[in-house]
Amino acid sequence: MCGIVGYIGKQQAPSILIDGLTKLEYRGYDSAGVAIFDGSDINVLKTKGRLSNLIKLVIEHPVSGTLGIGHTRWATHGAPSDINAHPHMSEDSEIAVVHNGIIENYMEIKEELLKSGWHFVSETDSEIIACIIDKYYKDGMSFEDAVFKAVARLEGSYALGIICKDCPEKLIAVRKGSPLVIGKGNGENFIASDIPAILNYTREVYFLEEDEIAVITEDSIAIYDKDRNAVNRDIYHVTWDIEAAEKSGYAHFMLKEIHEQPKIVRETILKRVPESGGIDLDNIKLGKEELDNIDRIYVVACGTAYYAGLIGKHLIEKICRIPVISEVASEFRYKDPILDERTLVIVVSQSGETADTLEALRISKRHGARVLAIVNAVGSSIAREADDVFYILAGPEIAVASTKAYSAQVAAMYILTCHIALTLGKMSEEEFEVIRAELYSLPSKIEVILNNKSVEKKLAAKYKDVRNVFFIGRGLDYLVSQEGSLKLKEIAYLHSEAYAAGELKHGPIAMIDENTLVVAIAAQEDLIEKTISNIKEVKARGANTIAIAMKGNTKIADVADDVIYIPRTMGILAPILANIPDQLFAYYMAINLGTDIDKPRNLAKSVTVE
Ligand code: G6P
Repeated sequence: MCGIVGYIGKQQAPSILIDGLTKLEYRGYDSAGVAIFDGSDINVLKTKGRLSNLIKLVIEHPVSGTLGIGHTRWATHGAPSDINAHPHMSEDSEIAVVHNGIIENYMEIKEELLKSGWHFVSETDSEIIACIIDKYYKDGMSFEDAVFKAVARLEGSYALGIICKDCPEKLIAVRKGSPLVIGKGNGENFIASDIPAILNYTREVYFLEEDEIAVITEDSIAIYDKDRNAVNRDIYHVTWDIEAAEKSGYAHFMLKEIHEQPKIVRETILKRVPESGGIDLDNIKLGKEELDNIDRIYVVACGTAYYAGLIGKHLIEKICRIPVISEVASEFRYKDPILDERTLVIVVSQSGETADTLEALRISKRHGARVLAIVNAVGSSIAREADDVFYILAGPEIAVASTKAYSAQVAAMYILTCHIALTLGKMSEEEFEVIRAELYSLPSKIEVILNNKSVEKKLAAKYKDVRNVFFIGRGLDYLVSQEGSLKLKEIAYLHSEAYAAGELKHGPIAMIDENTLVVAIAAQEDLIEKTISNIKEVKARGANTIAIAMKGNTKIADVADDVIYIPRTMGILAPILANIPDQLFAYYMAINLGTDIDKPRNLAKSVTVE
């Protein structure tokens, strides 16, 4: 949700900033801008629309300078426009700011500044940051002092990059509630919302923590807490490559990431379920003693991560017999959930930065609950603040619609469930051995589905004019339906709903007619007869039907118009396979509809505002 980048050093800042912004466009793409200090003034170039518009602007109006900040925006306050784009400047262009987050008390500060004669040009909350810093600066404070004083007044969430015309030897970075990393170079330093933005230049990074301010020159990085005590931070060495975040010949990141799933699921499983035996949860403290002290589990997340969490809830309840409550994080945080030291809260997040999930984690910890985070982004806020972290090893996920992270999260849920069940004696070693063998076979079964993707492509062509889609299923199939429906909404902008198959007749069936497509997930074979009846019911009302079923299930072919077969597996492991056709179907539907698949309208990859 908004991407920030900043540079101070000896190289030309514009190209470094633009390069960084291209890696951050997944965080927001409704406008973009840069502010460059040219030796005497700060020049701002910013424009509505994609980064390509900014690149054009920079080519038409070249600026040079070795200090600068850049931003790619996902609008919160004020519509996407040239004026509302960042960076924002104080009235006389003394201070320039880029901001990721929301300033909750901006009206109060704005009114105060208006009364003292300040003028504003944008509708954003961010502009007041530049102005309040400038006010303190003009009152006689140093640039640094003015930033500390202004930041102490800001409520809400913010990552900031700030430069001042009179202090070109400094770049100041601030973090509260929105992520920020500092890249350490040789005679140059960087700031960014995410590592890929600076990975072409350095692998040595510092993660800024909550309420910290960094004063950066080309040769030094000083980090302070909010009381201005100096903080010692260990440097983090990035081991993964930028290629991991590039398209490698695929038309879209989403397609690339869909195809990475066999590898990722294999790695996630093998790391935790080694061939040498047992389950290795590394340093995660979830042994018999801890588990005996747990009465209740919450699974809390947003979006796709929430749907992966639902699979975990279902399995832990079914197999481990522990009550599990699932909540979307935005609801959890405001509903006074029942939490105590006998509660385990499992938060699931690809980015590790989702504001609502992070807040849910903090509330849980405040109430004494233990928090286990299932996270992809190493070193992210959620990973750092949780009591324990289960990294899913999916590598950078760039497409806004999550695919490979979901599969890895579901694999993590399988592993966690088996671990809890074995530890509590709810699963025998023999039962686990059967599951283990089946877990190892999942990656090659995903490959089989991917090799047959022409099936989903043909079906997407057949149903390209459909505008209403229902995803139905029972049990675990219903949970997969929810993720399938979300994918179609996200990237094809189609109206689609997921419904428990048995609930369809309590209302939604009234909407079914010959223009409706119903995708029935039917991989839970113990419930197949029931699902078949539901398919018949919608067919009788004119719907077109696609079923997703395990190979060998011929009965379903007599009922559904089309069947996508997935390789056979155990019912509890079927979700990870049954979801892949949904991903491919959504992808090809989106191709037919000509949408922007990797950067769907109105969405952001990392939602760092609530
Ligand atoms: C956004 C993304 C989704 C993601 C959700 C949760 O909505 O577009 O793809 O599932 O946030 O994000 P997280 O990083 O916490 O998994």
